[in-house]
Amino acid sequence: MKHVLVTGGAGFIGSHLTESLLNDGYAVRVVDNESTGRQENLAKVWKHPHLEYIPGTVTDPDLVRDVVQGCQMVFHLAASVGVALVDRDPIETVEQNIRPVALLLEELRQIRDRQGIRVRFFLASSSEVYGKNPKDSWDEADELHFGPTTCMRWSYGMSKAIDEFLTLAHGRQYGLPVVIARFFNVAGPRQTGVYGMVLPRFVQAALAGQPLVVHDDGLQERCFAHVSDVVAAVRALMDSPQTIGSIFNVGTDEAVTIRQLAERVIDRADSVSRITFQPYSDAYSADFQDVRRRVPNLSKLRSAIAVRPKYRLNDIIDELVQ
Ligand SMILES: NC(=O)c1ccc[n+]([C@@H]2O[C@H](COP(=O)([O-])OP(=O)(O)OC[C@H]3O[C@@H](n4cnc5c(N)ncnc54)[C@H](O)[C@@H]3O)[C@@H](O)[C@H]2O)c1
Repeated sequence: MKHVLVTGGAGFIGSHLTESLLNDGYAVRVVDNESTGRQENLAKVWKHPHLEYIPGTVTDPDLVRDVVQGCQMVFHLAASVGVALVDRDPIETVEQNIRPVALLLEELRQIRDRQGIRVRFFLASSSEVYGKNPKDSWDEADELHFGPTTCMRWSYGMSKAIDEFLTLAHGRQYGLPVVIARFFNVAGPRQTGVYGMVLPRFVQAALAGQPLVVHDDGLQERCFAHVSDVVAAVRALMDSPQTIGSIFNVGTDEAVTIRQLAERVIDRADSVSRITFQPYSDAYSADFQDVRRRVPNLSKLRSAIAVRPKYRLNDIIDELVQ
């Protein structure tokens, strides 16, 4: 039986990944500090004999040393996530997002040196690393266009970019088998809207008959992927020997404006809600900057793995409404 570690496994994506791995016969060790995740996210598998749950933080070097022992794969998903949370607490973002990657990779290097074992490492990165690159769609070799450091929202994308440097460097310098996925917007059951995620916020408001609050003019474009499609892509990337040392966009390229998204949610939830508009400066800090269009080029992903998304945006909305 293969043993794997999932950091952030009590979170939204991590809990779906953990279920998928357990269903396929892996023994899964989850470590999570429950900052944005919850044990209840793992309710379906909580009593599974091959789930080991360790509450704690991956900023703790002793804990990191312990939890990687005996694992053949590490899926690193733990991070400070969500535009609202990042804007509110950029110090936490930088600390929670960079140090754990350095600690995990250092441990894996030591395991390689001591035991001659090369543990496979997955980094959950983000489309936020592209910053506000003005291209219509982004491919993995594109340049990163961050805004100024006075605008705190860029701390998240920059922290993920540093994570990518660390990960790729450990692949190159120490021969660790690493792979990086840049997730675009992921949605589905168990995602919370508390930290600024738009789709759960819209669905909750529509079901309650409350206004759907759209930021700015609502013409920002995004692409939403279902969490189970994202998990299938992650699993395939980690199972392929061809993906080692590479970065992949993961998501869908079905773009929708946020205003259209609000209209669709109201329509599919058969809701009486209205749409209202709020300036960014009221929702976030005064100097907040956003990304107008965020669409992935998925050619590299499609040529690397055979799995294809099963869900369209309407399916995702319908499931959330249910
Ligand atoms: N959801 C998206 O649309 C999206 C998009 C791009 C990238 N990502 C990345 O995917 C990963 C998972 O995101 P998510 O949407 O499931 O968010 P989430 O907040 O639900 O999951 C993150 C999990 O990590 C845990 N965590 C945070 N800091 C920790 C620490 N120091 N030690 C242990 N556990 C810690 C949290 O408690 C939570 O359970 C993150 O790395 C995120 O940056 C997500």
